[in-house]
Amino acid sequence: MPSTISWLQVHTRPTLMIPGPTELAFPVIQAMNQPPAIQYDRSFDEGVLEPTTLALRDVFQTQSEVLIMPGSGRTALEAGALSVIEPGDRVLVVGAGAFGMLMREIMNRVGADMTEFPVEWGARLDLDRLAHEAERLRPKAITLVHNETSTGTTYPAAAVGKIARSVDALFLLDTVSSIAGLDVRTDEWGVDLNMTGSQKCLGAPLGMALVAVSPRAWTAMERRKHGAHSYAYDLLRWREQWVPVSRGGKVPDGTPRRQPISIPTHLTAAMQVATRLILEEGLANRVRRHELAGMALRKGLAAMGLEMFPDSTIYSNTVSCVRAPKDIDPAAVVKRMREVYGILIGTGLDKIRTFTLRIGTMGVTASPHFVLPTLSALELALRDLGYKTEPGAGVAAAQIAFANAM
Ligand SMILES: Cc1ncc(COP(=O)(O)O)c(C=O)c1O
Repeated sequence: MPSTISWLQVHTRPTLMIPGPTELAFPVIQAMNQPPAIQYDRSFDEGVLEPTTLALRDVFQTQSEVLIMPGSGRTALEAGALSVIEPGDRVLVVGAGAFGMLMREIMNRVGADMTEFPVEWGARLDLDRLAHEAERLRPKAITLVHNETSTGTTYPAAAVGKIARSVDALFLLDTVSSIAGLDVRTDEWGVDLNMTGSQKCLGAPLGMALVAVSPRAWTAMERRKHGAHSYAYDLLRWREQWVPVSRGGKVPDGTPRRQPISIPTHLTAAMQVATRLILEEGLANRVRRHELAGMALRKGLAAMGLEMFPDSTIYSNTVSCVRAPKDIDPAAVVKRMREVYGILIGTGLDKIRTFTLRIGTMGVTASPHFVLPTLSALELALRDLGYKTEPGAGVAAAQIAFANAM
């Protein structure tokens, strides 16, 4: 007789409670179960691609063009950066975590004259100081990570957009872990490039990069002294080959268009369904759902005696970054949760990797159905590793939070 039970034997894969990629709704998975479509066929454009990009405008809360291309969040960030920034252009990068550092790296690679506005990890952004720095530098662009996935924080994008506008700078916003989970108002906030990826709160598979481009950003591209050094990701070429004349491009309306890069048909089909589900739910409801799930998760963590990493005024509702109990290695918690209880969460990143854990509540996982089992598995894993808490306290607190909210 075996002496130990492997709970994992009954699972074929872990449930994804990492901060992306996230779990997919079943209709999104089903949308990919089909033979290959012909990506340049008009029926694909008219039946799938065009309706999806038009519907995505509602998700982005913009009247402007939304481009979808193969890649990931990083592709969107790089395509945006290399399309509007020329070597030597001044750029002010707000760096409040690992993804702020990523933007810094991308700007360095496109040759920007980059100045970082450093923010302590997990801390609030000092808007007055930022406004002062923007005034002093008068940059061509200011970049911000709306939701810093490495620290579980949300930054005030609307206020930074105002600062950018006040110094006539472009506003480049990374919404990789916020779009379709938090309220992201592209036009109202003056976002010139809203850059994101498919695999988080949009609830689509990994593999698509999305960029919403404002009229000001198009103008900046047209005014470049030299063409962008990328063929595939020069967004100005996308506009010329892809966008109809009635929307400011060069393609006569109603005529077939040439894809700037071959668009993955299965991923677009999945995105079409994911977008439909978002709009059927309604953006306001969806944002509220993420708010409740994030709040209930945090209540549960607190009831287990765990402390959040960031400043309590800027908690993200899509990613929670929590300190591991003293003397417990976050990597061991992740391993135990995955191997024994079948739920995958993440450790922190970079300099906070050794003492923090991160849990995503994104798309379908922002619900009691996923949050309660995650708290339960976390408690069990911590108990196995020697941290004792009152049995069920985390789940009970989260359950009360959900019950009171509904
Ligand atoms: C805020 C943020 N920016 C950028 C990225 C990079 O996106 P990707 O992994 O899709 O390339 C991530 C990924 O987690 C992210 O959370």
